[in-house]
Amino acid sequence: MATRVGIPRETASGETRVATVPDVVARLVKKGLSVVIETGAGEASFYPDDAYREKGAEVADRSAVFACDVIAKVAPPTDAEIDQLSAGKTLIGFLGPLDEPERSRKLADAGVTALSMELVPRISRAQKMDALSAMANIAGYKAVLLASAELPRYFPLLTTAAGTVKPANALVLGAGVAGLQAIATARRLGARVSAYDIRDAVKEQVESLGATFVELELETKEMEDKSGYAKALDEEKARRQTELLVPAIAKSDVVITTALIPGRPAPVLITKEAVAAMKPGSVIVDLAAPNGGNCELTEPGQTTTTANQVKILAPLNIPASVAAHGSELYARTIMEMLFEMMGEDGTVSVDLENDVIGGACVTNGGQVVHERVSGLLAQA
Ligand code: NAI
Repeated sequence: MATRVGIPRETASGETRVATVPDVVARLVKKGLSVVIETGAGEASFYPDDAYREKGAEVADRSAVFACDVIAKVAPPTDAEIDQLSAGKTLIGFLGPLDEPERSRKLADAGVTALSMELVPRISRAQKMDALSAMANIAGYKAVLLASAELPRYFPLLTTAAGTVKPANALVLGAGVAGLQAIATARRLGARVSAYDIRDAVKEQVESLGATFVELELETKEMEDKSGYAKALDEEKARRQTELLVPAIAKSDVVITTALIPGRPAPVLITKEAVAAMKPGSVIVDLAAPNGGNCELTEPGQTTTTANQVKILAPLNIPASVAAHGSELYARTIMEMLFEMMGEDGTVSVDLENDVIGGACVTNGGQVVHERVSGLLAQA
């Protein structure tokens, strides 16, 4: 019998995305999978039930969706959702296993095989399954638009009959996927862009986008782990880093911060002293807000205006504000994961020997099987 893939309506506050879109349904169905969508699941991302039906999905209630073999979601499951999953089901989505490892234990106890999109290895073969990059691209792009909407100045150099205005100075801290997209977007809007990252490899990428790389007098050799992620600085170097960044921050009209270390709180790169050195009207968009923020004054989920009139935006879920494309791109990464798990008989199963699937698998057979996650649980 064909594997049934269930797509629930997301229930997390502010989550507008959905784990599949009608065009992707067509491709799943063509490969022999059955797709069951919860009534209204695509509404908040502008995909009506009928559009799914037209592409071959069944639109049904929540219990029918949770009765499917594989359940694909965007946001991590709530406790109520975990209760709805029975043993033997496969769950795939963002599960936040490094931020909230306890959830993985609950999934293991429920006998669910859970695949975390955050843990898909960052290897070339898995690029089409890289949901983190797909969403980080959106975040980097939208962060610049949010900043431009708040900034009381133009981004580009403009010569008008009323005179010429100087371009805005934009600084991007953390030049991974989101940061590089922020640089490209700010450049397209005409800002003068500079960027900083702790990983040496990034300098060339920053410069190839037409931005200036900020060099700090800080010993940061081998700051990249074997997965390509940044390592945390020791306390003394972290403090020195924030001091050295102050001049670059002070002369910026816009600062976009994206720095993250997997499984740890976001590093503070902008201290309150650095914010105090900024000009009135300047804007910070802190994309690390969900992990605590890169700015000492960030209040996750809030917009803060400081005494010296600097605005700090700390959105928690930017990809949800670009819901249609956010869903479409996410849906494709989920689809590729499903295809990766499909055997020749057309059914989906989890093969832990497959480096992508095994790498993303958090729970299987009643156990937390991901080493990093079980390590975090043991510590707790
Ligand atoms: P991320 O979201 O974990 O972090 C964002 C950026 O913050 C990173 O560039 C990191 O170096 C930087 N950062 C962390 N601490 C910092 C500090 N104290 N000061 C300044 N910068 C700091 O990273 P993301 O965007 O997920 O990328 C992680 C790595 O994965 C990168 O090396 C990227 O090139 C690589 N990658 C590889 C892919 C592939 O081969 N399939 C696909 C996507 C990313």
